[in-house]
Amino acid sequence: MPTPISVVRPDKGPVRVLLFSASLRAESFNTRLARLAQAALERLGGTVDVAYMREFDAPAYNLDLVARDGFPAGSKELHRRLDACDAFVIATPEYNASMPGFLKNAIDWVSTIRPQPFNAKHALLLSASPSMAGGNRGLWSLRIPLEHLGARVFPDMFSLAQAHKAFTEAGELVDRQLAERFEENLRAFMDLVEAAKHYPCVKKAWVEFLGEPGGVGRVDAA
Ligand code: FNR
Repeated sequence: MPTPISVVRPDKGPVRVLLFSASLRAESFNTRLARLAQAALERLGGTVDVAYMREFDAPAYNLDLVARDGFPAGSKELHRRLDACDAFVIATPEYNASMPGFLKNAIDWVSTIRPQPFNAKHALLLSASPSMAGGNRGLWSLRIPLEHLGARVFPDMFSLAQAHKAFTEAGELVDRQLAERFEENLRAFMDLVEAAKHYPCVKKAWVEFLGEPGGVGRVDAA
């Protein structure tokens, strides 16, 4: 039997995940989905910082406000919480086939604060909607600014269709098969974040896979 290779894992502590629902609604389906994600992330060994969209409230973006009042308190708060995490998970509603305006506004504000905290952070996107598509189109729109800002947005996204019928009284998913798929999605995400955090070679491979500068997929113009 071959001798197992022993890997010395640098002690960088557990994976820290910022988690928030991008709905302001008290009875939000996305907030319910975020609660399920919290439980799964904790089962998977993550340290979860649960936030609420209201904590990141900010006026419509206006550069003049920065000169006058500095950055809004909500934007500084989102910046601080992102800066402290290894990864973030957003459960967001879909509004008119896109992300809610207040979420995009929050991203725009934070993107102007340095260091820009989305860069190189791993992200997982979730959605819930009463519709048959579960708000999935909103997640595709959300990928654009996040990837633009350098976030490593996980390829698999989870969208909960018919959300008004999807939860039990206790807040679990009614459909057991779907619950397993949800858990599996979060597990795969956490495996990647854990590997990137503890093994820098995996992080490098992931960057190269995306074809970023210096990566194997890059083709320079002549
Ligand atoms: C919606 N909703 C919606 N749903 C959807 O699946 N696709 C869509 O394009 C839209 N568009 C839309 C626009 C606006 C302005 C509102 C207010 C709502 C319905 C939406 O998914 C539903 O209200 C969810 O319950 C919102 O999520 P929370 O608040 O329950 O998390």
